[in-house]
Amino acid sequence: MIELRSDTFTLPLPEMLETIQYAVLGDDGYSEDPTVKQLEELAANKLGKEAGVLLPSGVMANLASMMAHCPRGTKVLVSNESDIYIYEAGGASVCGGLIYEPITTSSDGCLAIDELRKAFPWDTQDPQYAHPALICLENPHNRMGGKVLPISYLQEVRQFADEKKVPIHMDGARIFNAAIALDIPVEQIAKFSDSVQFCLSKGLSAPLGSVVVGTHVFVEKVRWIRKMLGGSMRQAGVIAAPGIYALTNMIDRLEEDHQNARRFANGIAAIPGIEIDVSEVETNIVIFRVSERRVNWITFIEEARIRGLQLTEFGYGRIRAVTHSGINSEDIDRAIRIIRDILA
Ligand SMILES: Cc1ncc(COP(=O)(O)O)c(C=O)c1O
Repeated sequence: MIELRSDTFTLPLPEMLETIQYAVLGDDGYSEDPTVKQLEELAANKLGKEAGVLLPSGVMANLASMMAHCPRGTKVLVSNESDIYIYEAGGASVCGGLIYEPITTSSDGCLAIDELRKAFPWDTQDPQYAHPALICLENPHNRMGGKVLPISYLQEVRQFADEKKVPIHMDGARIFNAAIALDIPVEQIAKFSDSVQFCLSKGLSAPLGSVVVGTHVFVEKVRWIRKMLGGSMRQAGVIAAPGIYALTNMIDRLEEDHQNARRFANGIAAIPGIEIDVSEVETNIVIFRVSERRVNWITFIEEARIRGLQLTEFGYGRIRAVTHSGINSEDIDRAIRIIRDILA
């Protein structure tokens, strides 16, 4: 089966699993797991932040970050197409007493400053308004096709956030894909946000875990909220060890995933009945549509699955394919052939 539904399907390499066997472990609830500490320091250094904290998932990392930044009853400004808003079970409202303010997202994944501005009450002294306490950015932006937010935009939104005196949290689940796409060190992306969460799973191919980075004070607050949410772990070095392997060995190879995504996009663009703009492919995510009237997206995905190719529906009849470490260029060529056969 060629698995293109998501990079969350990546399996740990044998070398990664081996690191678990030799990891020095302790009770991280007592801050005594040296492998976890090593991972947290490595992550903070890489992203140019003071400190880091390991959490079990990206969802919890985003939730704990939002709760750490925002007092109850305040608003979190989120992309209306973001993972936080669409796929994270409304956690910030339920657990954090926060109000999501969905902001219309531009096709490049940015939240236009004029759109953000609308979320701020014109009279900050008027007690009837809930106040914005945080801007969340997603980079790369998954539902916008893995688009990388331009550095010029990050500068602009930082300036706006400073003007409004609100922090920025970046859901950088795939931030290393963004850094590879821009060919810059990841800290040059992270520096525009007060906090960043990134996933060790997904493209980096560790089995689980996410890290939140930020100031010492902020990270300690996330640690406290992590405990409250039940995400404080014991011998979590078994998660951290493959995470260290991932941060050391799996970043540069993301370029291969990007090349495979472009190969796939170019390949299917030549097939009559496929609608795709190949210039939109910036990272490892490819979004396309089936314009052939005989086949709708449901039957197309089912037919592909029967023939050995897994794809996923992605809202508004769009189809998503995601490349990752479990996929090579031959898999991509086979995937293209399967799609050609379905539409023949
Ligand atoms: C952009 C983005 N943020 C956060 C998450 C949440 O990660 P997880 O589901 O691993 O907790 C995902 C998951 O796919 C994601 O794509």
